[in-house]
Amino acid sequence: MTWVQSARIEEGHNMPGTTKDSYQEIVEEGLLKIRRIGMEPYLDLGAESGSQNQINRAFIDSIMLETRLLGSVPSVTQTELFGRRITFPIIGAALCDSRILARLGPWEPHYLEQIAGGLADAGSMMSVGDVSVDQLARIVEQGAPVIHIVKPYKDDKIVLEHLRAAESLGCVAVGMDVDVFFKEKAWDEEPGPAFLTHKSTDDLVRYKAETRLPFVVKGILSVHDARLAQEAGAAAIVISLHGGEAIDYAVPVLGVLPEIRRAVPDMTILVDSGFRRGTDVIKALALGAQGVGMATLLLIACSARGREGVRRILEILGMELQRTMSLIGWSTISQIDPSVLRFIPELERSVMTAAREISWSEA
Ligand SMILES: Cc1cc2nc3c(=O)[nH]c(=O)nc-3n(C[C@H](O)[C@H](O)[C@H](O)COP(=O)(O)O)c2cc1C
Repeated sequence: MTWVQSARIEEGHNMPGTTKDSYQEIVEEGLLKIRRIGMEPYLDLGAESGSQNQINRAFIDSIMLETRLLGSVPSVTQTELFGRRITFPIIGAALCDSRILARLGPWEPHYLEQIAGGLADAGSMMSVGDVSVDQLARIVEQGAPVIHIVKPYKDDKIVLEHLRAAESLGCVAVGMDVDVFFKEKAWDEEPGPAFLTHKSTDDLVRYKAETRLPFVVKGILSVHDARLAQEAGAAAIVISLHGGEAIDYAVPVLGVLPEIRRAVPDMTILVDSGFRRGTDVIKALALGAQGVGMATLLLIACSARGREGVRRILEILGMELQRTMSLIGWSTISQIDPSVLRFIPELERSVMTAAREISWSEA
């Protein structure tokens, strides 16, 4: 499901059976505003063929969930990340300026502060990408714990300035998105100006030594990079395909998550890219993630209703998570495990095996 495909209503028409405060209403309201300014295609970017977001989403959708209803109890979604209690393991994925939200302005306060405020109101955590130190300070002031993901700038002075700012402003973790040294790429456009560069494990070791905060490496899609991030001293990684804007034909994030979890069992693993509902979050947690980041959904919710839209969409995701956990019989986040997951070939195999064992004449 892409956002473009999910835009099912036309202006002035509400979805039947939904309330003004439902997921569908908020998303449709945001999409309508984005569509009116002609920016809907920018919700679903992708380098070259643009295949990666579709492949990634199809992979998420191909995983199904068994229920474990008998003996089930009410579930609690609270968890801890970087030493902070949060309402649920759903956080803001790294965000910076948005072409879409900028055009929907003027905003007062700035839309990044509204998103940070909505995350704070929901008891969640924010990740901040390519922003100025002043912007970072205003975002931290909103009250949500903040992870600052610094760009892989060529100029080490800028990297160090941001690492130090994150610590002095009270961020809970700091890191780098190592996957965009060509800058993000949309479709066949030329990648942006060359102020970013490749980073080595030695660079990461140096950056890690500059901060007392847990160090996070974002943009990991292989065991190779996860191991090197760990060797460099990173406490956490973010498995991410950066909204499809780094490599064409990126592997699906949930496809590589289990092998990465096995390779680096002690690391905190966050994952983002394509997560839209509570059930998506369940799948990521069951495959070994400790938290799931969302960017596009929060952008749409902010387009719809600013800070309140962000708070409400997170509240809905939290309820979806809690409800699904109960239907599966998990009472806490730490109980979530992969035994309830079914993959399409596995499902076909189990259905066919069962079907072959049935004697239709006796049924
Ligand atoms: C408006 C916008 C700004 C972003 N800025 C950054 C950034 O500065 N640094 C970064 O690592 N990722 C950035 N991202 C990528 C997200 O962190 C995330 O990896 C990506 O959007 C996939 O998640 P999603 O499917 O929930 O959008 C940005 C995404 C959006 C939509």
